[in-house]
Amino acid sequence: MNAMQDMTGGRELVMVSNRLPVDRVTNDDGSTSWRASPGGLVTAVQPIVEQLGCVWVGWAGSADEAVEPFELGAMRLVPIELSAEDIALYYEGFSNGTLWPLYHDVIAQPEYHREWWDRYRRVNQRFAEQVAATASEQAIVWVHDYQLQLVPAMLRELRPDLTIAFFLHIPFPPGRLFAQLPWRRQVVRGLLGADVIGFQQTTDAVAFRMAVERFTRAPALGNTIVLPASADGPSRTVLAQEFPISIDAESFAEIARRPETRERAKEIRADLGDPRIVMLGVDRLDYTKGIRHRLKAFNELLEDGELDPTDIVFVQVASPSRERVDAYRQLRDEVEGTVGRINGAHGTIGRAPLNYLHRGFTRDEMVALYLAADVLLVTPLRDGMNLVAKEYVACRDDERGVLVLSEFAGAADELRDALLVNPHDIEGLKAAIVRAAHMPREEQRRRMHALRRAVADNDVAHWAAGYLGAVRAAAESGEIGVGG
Ligand code: ADP
Ligand code: G6P
Repeated sequence: MNAMQDMTGGRELVMVSNRLPVDRVTNDDGSTSWRASPGGLVTAVQPIVEQLGCVWVGWAGSADEAVEPFELGAMRLVPIELSAEDIALYYEGFSNGTLWPLYHDVIAQPEYHREWWDRYRRVNQRFAEQVAATASEQAIVWVHDYQLQLVPAMLRELRPDLTIAFFLHIPFPPGRLFAQLPWRRQVVRGLLGADVIGFQQTTDAVAFRMAVERFTRAPALGNTIVLPASADGPSRTVLAQEFPISIDAESFAEIARRPETRERAKEIRADLGDPRIVMLGVDRLDYTKGIRHRLKAFNELLEDGELDPTDIVFVQVASPSRERVDAYRQLRDEVEGTVGRINGAHGTIGRAPLNYLHRGFTRDEMVALYLAADVLLVTPLRDGMNLVAKEYVACRDDERGVLVLSEFAGAADELRDALLVNPHDIEGLKAAIVRAAHMPREEQRRRMHALRRAVADNDVAHWAAGYLGAVRAAAESGEIGVGG
């Protein structure tokens, strides 16, 4: 057993998330292939399970397609089929039209539809049944994110021998917001089927424990919730605690050190016209990411003459996301309209101050972009963690570059040496951008040095050791209970 396998005490590990780590895509010629799934969940979790080995249960990303289980490196992937109606009601509807906006401080208005909830419940039940049929005796099952909050309790009922862990990658909402959810009790009970529930930040864990006390009356002693004996089983405890997620910092650093990556970064700058300052934003095209606020600040700085459009280029990478959900469609229209207006007003022949890229890139290309950027703007209105901020820092072993970071990203808890901003405060945001654009080398070096230490001290291996350590302890305490 290597150090990683030791984390599960030799038990089988079953990952469960809405999406598999790879998406099935149909190419122009009709053939199909696999590509990495979007988002931070996969970036963070994949390097751990590549070493540990696991079974991974999830959706392959297209409608009405039955895909046979298959091997990928050390993982065995078990696809779950979702129909077009499941996607509309469970994924686009309840997951991304109700829970996502509710859990992100109602930046967009959550919609509450009984039909969506009903399908969410049914799809969660299907995931639980598939896992129950797949997991070996005494396995550790690790359920991920807001799309699958009912799975822990459903699974416990089907397979009481399993150790069940849950991790919420997005914020857990404060009491008054969570209370809006018509099915709040069911969601809390669903999560409490787990032995360990992990959150990004202390505030999330506290909000959850308060929701438990309010909606189930089960008391919390510190981080531990005590569930009384009931018809469903004996008394047991649930650990609900923060475990801030991270990245495989060394793998980003390694790509950044390659001569070809450095060469590519230079080429990118040259293609942009070798401006004095390259600013970068990298986000899924999501209304939580504060892209509108960022563009507004950038536009005003050009209009006020505080930034010179011949001197600066802002590259905004916006990966396509949830394109059939109304709020996302609207956002795309607005962002693309704004980009056109900014370039129309401030561009010159052969030169646009804003370079907008609406597509996915390879990891190597992302790292080259990070190296090419003097300033990274990470300005979400709310974000569970934000791994992009950590990736930028991990790549900058030259200790150059400035991170402008929203105080509403979970990452701000650790990355205190960034220029922290309130993205709602457009004047404050503008001031931070100007400061970043003119920051002296020595201050850049000092800040980046401290940021790099913060990321290195809490990389994904450290996160996994803490989280899986707690899960393993739960598994072992269960065994003692059974044996004694
Ligand atoms: P979220 O999980 O909300 O999307 P994070 O910042 O935590 O936000 O994670 C986003 C992940 O997706 C990062 O690993 C980032 O590098 C990656 N990513 C974002 N945009 C792109 C893109 N256009 N091409 C490739 N990877 C991307
Ligand atoms: C965030 C969520 C993930 C989700 C990802 C991509 O990272 O926390 O659960 O998978 O965004 O979103 P999508 O809806 O395309 O799966």
